[in-house]
Amino acid sequence: MPGSRSAQWYAGGDRNAYIHRAWMRRGLPSDAFDGRPHIAIANTASDLTPCNMHLDEVAEHVKHGVWEAGGVPLNLPVVSLGETNVRPTAMLWRNMAAMAVEEMLRANPIDGVVLLGGCDKTIPALLMAASSVDLPAVVVPGGPMLTGTFRGAPLGCGTDVWKLSEEVRAGTLSQADFLRSESSMIRSKGHCNTMGTASTMGLLAEVLGMTLPGLAGTPAADSRLLEGAHETGRLIVGMIADGRRPSDVMTRGSFLNAIVALAALGGSTNAVVHLLAIAGRLGVELTQDDFDRTGSGVPLLVDLQPAGRHLMEDLYRAGGLHAVLAEVRDLLDPAAITVTGRPLVEALDGAAVHDRDVIRSRRQPLQQDAGIAVLYGNLAPDGAVIKPAAASPHLLRHRGPAVVFDSIEDFHARIDDLDVTPDSVLVLRGCGPKGYPGMPEVSNMPLPPKLLAQGVRDMVRICDGRMSGTAYGTVVLHVAPEAAAGGPLGLVRTGDMIILDVPGRRLDIDIPAEELAAREPSPEMTAAFARPSRGWQRLYVETVRQADTGADLDFLVGSSGDAVPRESH
Ligand code: FES
Ligand code: MG
Repeated sequence: MPGSRSAQWYAGGDRNAYIHRAWMRRGLPSDAFDGRPHIAIANTASDLTPCNMHLDEVAEHVKHGVWEAGGVPLNLPVVSLGETNVRPTAMLWRNMAAMAVEEMLRANPIDGVVLLGGCDKTIPALLMAASSVDLPAVVVPGGPMLTGTFRGAPLGCGTDVWKLSEEVRAGTLSQADFLRSESSMIRSKGHCNTMGTASTMGLLAEVLGMTLPGLAGTPAADSRLLEGAHETGRLIVGMIADGRRPSDVMTRGSFLNAIVALAALGGSTNAVVHLLAIAGRLGVELTQDDFDRTGSGVPLLVDLQPAGRHLMEDLYRAGGLHAVLAEVRDLLDPAAITVTGRPLVEALDGAAVHDRDVIRSRRQPLQQDAGIAVLYGNLAPDGAVIKPAAASPHLLRHRGPAVVFDSIEDFHARIDDLDVTPDSVLVLRGCGPKGYPGMPEVSNMPLPPKLLAQGVRDMVRICDGRMSGTAYGTVVLHVAPEAAAGGPLGLVRTGDMIILDVPGRRLDIDIPAEELAAREPSPEMTAAFARPSRGWQRLYVETVRQADTGADLDFLVGSSGDAVPRESH
């Protein structure tokens, strides 16, 4: 393959080819540079990303497969983002990780890439990068952790943390017992075992066509993950020979398939911004409205937390992603292919459900019409999203007075003695991409203790930020434009009546248009917006787009391809 990309570094007898080869040898035989494919393993393993710590082991197994198929595997450590630790939010760095991976793939003698991710932002960032370089690429999702138990009951990562902490606030669980559950929460290697963002994006990577069929959802501790990693190593070598690129695999049909799957799985609202951002890199036409049009009528079939009861290990045992997709096969685009070059739907032949408690049939879904709803109105001119599957049915049509917070710190400072009723609508702003910055997962504000004590377990909440995929509640998210970009969310005042109408797809403040137009943003609110003076944060705030188009940086949308850069010497 003298025409390969890496051969443009390594082929020939001149000084520069000598330099490129010599420094890379380190035990490699001469035929490692004879034109065979060089494959990067973009690895997000990091001790600071606990959900991805095991990916070095996964990488070793990918390498076995690459060697075996005649390629040269090369570890490429990439910026890793741990959801629980990184501040002010891992989302602030998603685009930075994507930009760094894109640039390093293009700058190096690489013919294809295996993408190893797990924790929430890692797979989206890797897919964004691979899309913008458009080199042959395949994902190995790191997989969920095994189910931990506390006093005989299973613990769902994230979801049960929110639940248990609310029980402490409501006085029904002691602080000591709460802390006792801590060491049971994370039972094994792997990412969160609920249908949070990591599980959702791992599964959707497969629905997009970007994994070995049948691999997504394999628990991190299951040997079959390593077997799949090995096979993926062989597969990428074949993909390079076939010239199959992300733009061949991830078509509009693939994204619509992902939207169907997102609804059937009860997946995270964060998938909206991630899928929009990936599509943006590929130049695939996809809008927020596609989620409502294609997904909102799809039933919820998977009984997993946070929408239901079970956890990822149960889903795998019950038949996994393929069993779910087989239930909605008629809604999937039969032309969408996977990294194998074969249609996604073809891999569903023979899929079976082994536990109807976990994977429901279309006739007996967990919930009808479960996909994400997109709302518009004078409070969200560019839209806002809500996940009805995670919301309380009685609040989906609601009118109530706003209680407004200019920051999450403002909320925490006042929550204990607020003048609120169960009908109040909690409005939090300054949490969008620009305002925070990075659009953190703070939208599911905890309920005021006074209401918890009355037995209230849900209220309408509205925010320009995101919500953890493991969270639940009647929470309107991703309000666009955000307050810091001049959105009308910044004009709401405590006491204004808010009208939420999910069936009608509306979100409005009940005040005359002239009155709203005449209002000015308060100085207290604007003072709470982030104003970074330098570095990535400054670049981010100046160039980030709004949630409704995926919150990518404006200059990162699209692709620069895999053109070989100028010689370095
Ligand atoms: Fe990593 Fe939940 S914290 S997936
Ligand atoms: Mg998260």
